[in-house]
Amino acid sequence: MQQLAHTWDAELYNDKHAFVYNYGAFLVDFLDVKPRERILDLGCGSGELTHLIKEKAAEVIGVDKSPEMVEKARLQFPLIDFQVANASDFQFSEPFDAIFSNAALHWVTSYKQAIRAMYDNLKKGGRIVVEFGGKDNVKAITGQLRKSLLERGYREQAGLKLWYFPSVGEYTSELKKAGFTVTSAQWYDRPTELADEETGIKDWLSMFCKPFFEGVDDSDVTDIMIEIQENLKPMLFRNGKWYADYKRIRIVAYR
Ligand code: BEZ
Repeated sequence: MQQLAHTWDAELYNDKHAFVYNYGAFLVDFLDVKPRERILDLGCGSGELTHLIKEKAAEVIGVDKSPEMVEKARLQFPLIDFQVANASDFQFSEPFDAIFSNAALHWVTSYKQAIRAMYDNLKKGGRIVVEFGGKDNVKAITGQLRKSLLERGYREQAGLKLWYFPSVGEYTSELKKAGFTVTSAQWYDRPTELADEETGIKDWLSMFCKPFFEGVDDSDVTDIMIEIQENLKPMLFRNGKWYADYKRIRIVAYR
């Protein structure tokens, strides 16, 4: 299986994928920020949740691997410190009270390094509060995507491994190996309403699945998108709305 880089369309993300940070607002409550805390938002995207955290914490830094997202975050929230950094390889001179991450860690396939980096950048007694795609996340959508690609002979694209969706058992065991004490671990179904009633699944594919379409003929891309959305309709279209079949893993662990 092959790994490819991904560039982000920050405008499409904000226009049609605001659900990413809307759901994340609940996770910020769950983080339970104390006024004197220094917090890292790992995979901060366009910065909306970093901004929410900043309203409660003494200090917050937002980091994201995507320069496009960091640029957007800086424009939206110029008083917050946003930096381009890789979740599997980051180092700050001062450790954090908490590391927060919403809907980002499934992009980090070198997850052991990410766990190590989080551990190394926490104070003793500091915590991580992270939520991301868990086992079987978007299985219906990606199953259809891989099938449509394969049927047209795009074997390499169909086999692409872009994400890491662990079970609670797998992830907590990795955390424990790194020295964390896990205090809460959940895996749950979170069908996620998509913004557009006409093009919900197609928009989701355009936003998040670009690497699967590298080297695919333009006419095939259009056909594949239509086919996937049609085939998923019985399962993912309800009462006039599209839902992505998200499964979340939510973890709290202490150093
Ligand atoms: C997610 O948030 O679960 C997700 C988003 C984009 C691609 C894959 C998964």
